[in-house]
Amino acid sequence: MAKIIFIPGSLRKDSLNKKLLEVCIKFFEQKAVECHLVAQSELNVPLINTDDEQTKFPATIKAIVEKINAADGVVFGVPEYNSGISPVIKNFVDWTSRLKPHPWKGKSVLLVGTSPSDFGAISGLAHTRDPFPTGIKCSMAPSSKTKRDKKISKWCWAIF
Ligand SMILES: Cc1cc2nc3c(=O)[nH]c(=O)nc-3n(C[C@H](O)[C@H](O)[C@H](O)COP(=O)(O)O)c2cc1C
Repeated sequence: MAKIIFIPGSLRKDSLNKKLLEVCIKFFEQKAVECHLVAQSELNVPLINTDDEQTKFPATIKAIVEKINAADGVVFGVPEYNSGISPVIKNFVDWTSRLKPHPWKGKSVLLVGTSPSDFGAISGLAHTRDPFPTGIKCSMAPSSKTKRDKKISKWCWAIF
């Protein structure tokens, strides 16, 4: 059975992007995919500090990476902050990039995002591609299609 890990890019309790991931999970479960939604609390870790990486590497990040290593793909729910990347996702990718083997090597990644603005999370999605290295065959799904999802909010656009 295929396995996918879902990672919310927001720590907010009522996060729209977490709700968007829950919609995606329903879709994938209908396709008989095993889905695991990472708890927001596991992403609430200190900012990357390389002084700490030997002694205080966040245990929850290591645990998520173990799940990623055993999965076929990862889906991120991507909020847009000031037209850019969510600090939660950037910090997560920064910590993970210090591990060997590189957890994103050969991994398939899908970014989905939503925001209440007229343009959805389109700019945030574009920037969220940046920290995933191209040289290690990490494949990113294109983020070029937009779809209004009235089930989430009449103002929300989901961008895939
Ligand atoms: C610091 C900050 C900056 C934001 N900048 C943008 C932005 O540039 N574009 C946008 O569409 N929404 C922006 N928003 C609004 C977020 O899209 C909105 O709060 C959204 O609900 C966040 O995602 P979440 O619901 O998953 O937490 C910003 C919100 C915050 C807190």
